[in-house]
Amino acid sequence: LARGGADEDLAGRHVVVSAGGTREPIDPVRFIGNRSSGLQGYALARTAVARGARVTLVAANVALPDPAGADVVRVGSAEEMRKAVLEAGGAADAVVMAAAVADFRPAGYRDSKIKKTPGAEPEPIRLTKNPDILAELGQRRQDGQVIVGFAAETDDVLANGREKLARKGCDLLVVNQVGDGLTFGQADNAATVLAVDGDPTVVPRGPKEALADVVWDLVAARLE
Ligand code: CTP
Ligand code: CA
Repeated sequence: LARGGADEDLAGRHVVVSAGGTREPIDPVRFIGNRSSGLQGYALARTAVARGARVTLVAANVALPDPAGADVVRVGSAEEMRKAVLEAGGAADAVVMAAAVADFRPAGYRDSKIKKTPGAEPEPIRLTKNPDILAELGQRRQDGQVIVGFAAETDDVLANGREKLARKGCDLLVVNQVGDGLTFGQADNAATVLAVDGDPTVVPRGPKEALADVVWDLVAARLE
């Protein structure tokens, strides 16, 4: 697929992109987080603006300037991201979940900072599951809406991706291989985009904008 960014092929469309990584608070000063920089989500937002879309960017803990022309909603935790994405994405033409959403959060938030107790071992932090935002989008899908997920996998990358695409009920799943400095915080990315009903699209290592444009090519084709 060439850069179909053929001018404004997303004009008149509303797309929602999530970016960054959620932080799950433990106490007033601590959280459980992840290594997502937000670069891929921001590249998706910028390229969608360039292709004429109205863009809502739901950004979790990202240290990047707001992309010009996008409507940015800042969130912290997975619960906050769920609320913002479902609200903005309910009636959107496409939703792309590029954010790294924490699978678990501390089961109980402590209002006071956890202190050391001399001579005692720390208490374990009990975790509970976060809601799966992408699966929920898949379940609530409106007619004609396109839902896109991302998956960072190790080991059997494509088999894991296929299983995940089916389980989440999305149309497209962008599968990255992670580990050893691949992907996180890098300007470049390589991926395979799996489609629920078609052949995979292999995107060679290149700028995150290039991968973003392939994603929008595939989304635009499904919206037609
Ligand atoms: N995702 C989500 N809500 C969650 C977890 C993940 O919306 N609570 C989304 C991510 O934004 C991503 C996709 O689901 O687009 C896949 O995330 P991933 O972590 O690879 O999938 P999981 O279902 O969490 O499976 P795993 O056990 O492999 O982490
Ligand atoms: Ca996960």
